[in-house]
Amino acid sequence: VSKPCITEADFHKFQEYFYRKTGVRFEDTKRYFVDRRLIERMQATDSASFRSYFDLLRTERSGTEMQSLINVMTVNETYFFREEYQFCCLVNSVLPELVARKREGEPIRIWVVPSSSGEEPYSIAICLLERWSGIAHWDVEIVSSDIDTHVLSLARAGCYSSRSVQYVPAAYLRKYFHVTAAGHELISEVRDAVDFTRVNVLDPEQMRCYRNFDVIFCRNLLIYFDDVSRRMAAEELFDALRPGGYLMLGHSESMSRASAAFKVRKFPEAIIYQRSAGD
Ligand SMILES: C[S@@+](CC[C@H](N)C(=O)[O-])C[C@H]1O[C@@H](n2cnc3c(N)ncnc32)[C@H](O)[C@@H]1O
Repeated sequence: VSKPCITEADFHKFQEYFYRKTGVRFEDTKRYFVDRRLIERMQATDSASFRSYFDLLRTERSGTEMQSLINVMTVNETYFFREEYQFCCLVNSVLPELVARKREGEPIRIWVVPSSSGEEPYSIAICLLERWSGIAHWDVEIVSSDIDTHVLSLARAGCYSSRSVQYVPAAYLRKYFHVTAAGHELISEVRDAVDFTRVNVLDPEQMRCYRNFDVIFCRNLLIYFDDVSRRMAAEELFDALRPGGYLMLGHSESMSRASAAFKVRKFPEAIIYQRSAGD
């Protein structure tokens, strides 16, 4: 049986289609990565050619194959306590400012998007438990979302490799994880603190369900987008925040070209963004 072949024209067709669906554009340098995954999905769906696979993608009503394709195409690299200085910023600078203007009894809503396999939202939950005295007084809701359903199921399971937990401080590792044959399993107190959902941040209809967040962590997503998708994402994230809400991006990401709507806030630990209280 001859191996299916992806021509340059096929690649470009796919590139455009995937970009429209997800905002992620695979440059020509990613050709090998993309071709390998396309061939994998063509074989899994018994598609004899790229053309028949592409027809399947565009015509299926359920969106099942599109989801499987997204799951193999996304780059899900993440680990516990990645760019920890921002968690310090949350605890030492953002939360004190936030609770100073919060009404008693109102929950603090934090959204972590994209979640990938959950290391980031769980790191935040652990930091709040360990380092923020306000946790005894305030009700905190943590929602975390991703476009990839495979990583979401890993996140809900909460079981991690040694590599993934290598930067977890030893005392936290002992306190919040059980070592099992499967790996480092998070205790249920932390797992239950985070709600995982599927969302495409570039889909305005889906994004309408995400509103009134006090803090959004959107780290290491915009790097996969071009300027147009970044601008769209910036608008969606702006609308998802409460007036006065805070946005944290990854260390190599910035809002400067994507949106002028946010105020830049320079805290001792990090530079972050804020939606004006009056907007
Ligand atoms: C490199 S991970 C970042 C994970 C985590 N925020 C971190 O910084 O460690 C990028 C994630 O973005 C997700 N993603 C890509 N496009 C997306 C979109 N349009 N909407 C939501 N998530 C998306 C991918 O599935 C992947 O899990």
